[in-house]
Amino acid sequence: MKKWYIANFKMSKEVESEQSIVNYAEKFIPLVEDVEDNVVICAPYIHLSEAVAQFIDTDVLVGAENCAMWEAGAYTGEISAAMLDKAGVKVVILGHSERRNYFGEDNTIVNKKLTLALKYGLIPVVCLSFETEDAFKETLKDQLDSVLKDVSADENVVIAFEPTFAIGTGKALGKEEVKQFTKQIKDQLKDKGYDFPVLYGGSVKPDNAKDFIVEAGADGLLVGGASLDPEKFAEICTCAKD
Ligand code: 13P
Repeated sequence: MKKWYIANFKMSKEVESEQSIVNYAEKFIPLVEDVEDNVVICAPYIHLSEAVAQFIDTDVLVGAENCAMWEAGAYTGEISAAMLDKAGVKVVILGHSERRNYFGEDNTIVNKKLTLALKYGLIPVVCLSFETEDAFKETLKDQLDSVLKDVSADENVVIAFEPTFAIGTGKALGKEEVKQFTKQIKDQLKDKGYDFPVLYGGSVKPDNAKDFIVEAGADGLLVGGASLDPEKFAEICTCAKD
């Protein structure tokens, strides 16, 4: 199975201007030319068209960081899954813990977004979020039951787990913990008849990426801070080589 390396730029200072996307692509594209895994750049809405233009002749996919829970209509300020599809976007991150914590998104909302993303042919990266290890064990089944409600096993869905204490703190999980969490999620998915890839996110850097992929068996990585530097993110995308 191809691994997934997904950049989540968020609302970072480094990507305020459109030119920053152009500069990023210029540096990043030659560094990942030979990568056969799935490489995705998730950019703020306002830069998606530029990102699609920059990566058009490459294997790098462009993703959004969110989409609306409604299909279309009078929802001022929202962006629909259909709009993303028409803009050439292929992937969408859904239910990130920042969306859950700052915008009140719950599993029911994430499920609505997921259903629309699939309807419009986008690959959803569904984030599972938890604050402690105990919370992970307690909420995992419920989170999966609700976010994946009515999702059929042959859909193209990516699952990512990100403990909130590991996001942007430099306190990544250890490889043993990533291994355990990955296995628990995969087991639960299997019980439901799913075989979706399971990604880890939370303070992933070039120096810990390989452990998570090669030793912990994660199917990929969701990367925030380190993805803003094209060289660092390219190192992460090539971490499992040789
Ligand atoms: P950091 O890599 O900055 O910890 O962010 C992780 C994340 O939230 C990716 O979605």
